[in-house]
Amino acid sequence: MNGRVDIFGWRRLKGKGTGGLRSHKLFWIEETSVGGKKMGSAGELRKISGPVVIAEKMLGAKMYDVVKVGGQQLIGEIIKLDGELATIQVYEDTSGLRPGEKVINTELPLSVELGPGLLESIYDGIQRPLGEILKKTGSFIGRGVTANALDRKKKWAFTPAAKRGDHVKGGDIIGEVQETEIILHRIMVPHGVKGEIMEIKKGSFTVEDVVAVVKDGSQKHEITLMQKWEVRKPRPYAEKMAPATPLVTGQRILDTFFPIAKGGVAAIPGPFGSGKTVAQQALAKYSDAQVIVYIGCGERGNEMTEVLTEFPELIDPKTKKPLMQRTVLIANTSNMPVAAREASVYTGITIAEYYRDMGYDVALMADSTSRWAEAMREISGRIEEMPGEEGYPAYLARRLAEFYERAGRIACIGKKERVGSVSVIGAVSPPGGDISEPVSQNTLRVTKVFWALDAKLAQRRHFPAINWLKSYSLYTDTLDATYVKSVSKEWSTNRQRAMALLQKEAELQEIVQLVGPDALPEKEQAVLDATRMIREDFLQQSAYSEVDAYTSLDKQVAMLKVILHFHDRALGAIEQGVQLKVITSLKARQDIARMKETPEKDFTRRGGEIMGMVDSQFNKIVGEARK
Ligand SMILES: Nc1ncnc2c1ncn2[C@@H]1O[C@H](COP(=O)(O)OP(=O)(O)OP(=O)(O)O)[C@@H](O)[C@H]1O
Ligand SMILES: [Mg+2]
Repeated sequence: MNGRVDIFGWRRLKGKGTGGLRSHKLFWIEETSVGGKKMGSAGELRKISGPVVIAEKMLGAKMYDVVKVGGQQLIGEIIKLDGELATIQVYEDTSGLRPGEKVINTELPLSVELGPGLLESIYDGIQRPLGEILKKTGSFIGRGVTANALDRKKKWAFTPAAKRGDHVKGGDIIGEVQETEIILHRIMVPHGVKGEIMEIKKGSFTVEDVVAVVKDGSQKHEITLMQKWEVRKPRPYAEKMAPATPLVTGQRILDTFFPIAKGGVAAIPGPFGSGKTVAQQALAKYSDAQVIVYIGCGERGNEMTEVLTEFPELIDPKTKKPLMQRTVLIANTSNMPVAAREASVYTGITIAEYYRDMGYDVALMADSTSRWAEAMREISGRIEEMPGEEGYPAYLARRLAEFYERAGRIACIGKKERVGSVSVIGAVSPPGGDISEPVSQNTLRVTKVFWALDAKLAQRRHFPAINWLKSYSLYTDTLDATYVKSVSKEWSTNRQRAMALLQKEAELQEIVQLVGPDALPEKEQAVLDATRMIREDFLQQSAYSEVDAYTSLDKQVAMLKVILHFHDRALGAIEQGVQLKVITSLKARQDIARMKETPEKDFTRRGGEIMGMVDSQFNKIVGEARK
């Protein structure tokens, strides 16, 4: 195919008897023709059932073809085929559609536009820019509205990183665009294209302008700043690597106790109001990923409104630039069409993979994957598939696994060696908080980190309400090596000691409930006192306090060290005959409680000071007890 670079993958032709491969044509919403050729066979609507419609006479249609339904050209996707009868999930409200209306097959899969301008954007589930759409239709998204995902007029300064005569292939970087102040957008040769660079330009270009021409034998490929990729197909990589570096979140309970690796997968299941959204947002704001993709999936409109109004105002604590400069938001709230919610997760992860391929560490948050699963269930019910557990489709487990499988730390394809990662953090909202339900269970089977939110902790206002006895991370051992080397050699011993104390506390609590705390020996009461410090002065972390919202690893290890040191001294003092109540009323206790509010820059000094105070105050009371 000559002309524009629009070969980005291959798929097998079904039912046409050719058995061969044919190149993909590009799908873009407002295009109904490719290369001037009018395309798309037209069928006819037969039945409408909410977000699902059935069309007949869909000659030559294939699974996952994108279609335009009815006079308003609502966007849909074929999800089931039975001869010429196509079942279609429609991404827009289908009310008012009538049998007999036309259904046009674009013969293209659902795809996203990838190029400069993604960052700072807010999209709906099928990558329509929400701002643009709202401008066109007012406060509700009108139907059949189309808008380009990437601005067609905006010009980007392109600096070539390859020259005429270079041989390139898919994944090679041929130039750069400074997309935002903090992110350099690497322009890569689209997959499926290879050859010799005949021409490469420098200057200002729109995403559709040709910046390079690549010749492969008799074929010429024109390369633009934008490329496209079908959302349901993972983007390729050279090699998957073991996740080995931590995704630092600044959240003490996460980094210290249940860390996630870059390229790792984590689930946050939690009942209503337990802090899933706050936790996801804290990760979006503070984790040390370079690019953030945040998918608001089926959550209440007002929750997403908070995100949409709050995010654009947030400042990245590291770069001091607006956080949006490294963020793509995808919003598909509960009042938006359910099929687009099903797609939003794929739209998000494809964008994440694209930045990964440039060599960036990307973190993707999906809030909530339960709503995504419910969208699957609704669609599956409409097409009368045999239901599996609790009415979810039998393929629920596979879909969840396939989605999380797209996370990972990888060696990118391309001449320039680079490693990128996509970390995925999925919130799960099990009805009634009971994680024995299918979405939680199937998620836990594939995720390696489990941050168990707990309704009781949330009720007690212990935030983040992550239950330290139920949560786990399978990355802890791998990451310990890094932490011990780069942060402190006490990192893992501190954590193990603190965790052992918390476990001991749980045992002691059972006794306390039977006989009361005073029946415990003083040393065991001292354990309860230490765990109170661990819980209140370390694990509890306010997302709303400017200082407390983020804690560096250095400060985390120092804070825990102070608490454990206090406990050691307490045990020693009790042996010397000091009473526990004297210990708990030491002035240093107030300083320990205030550690979290001590700004990072003061803490190196302050941490040492508190250690000194703990020692001198204990020396004093032990001395007095000896007298
Ligand atoms: N780290 C935190 N610091 C302070 N407050 C918190 C924290 N986490 C949660 N909260 C409090 O809990 C409330 C509920 O949290 P959030 O909205 O994240 O719950 P959710 O699990 O997403 O709920 P839903 O199931 O309704 O979506 C917040 O409005 C806030 O008051
Ligand atoms: Mg929420």
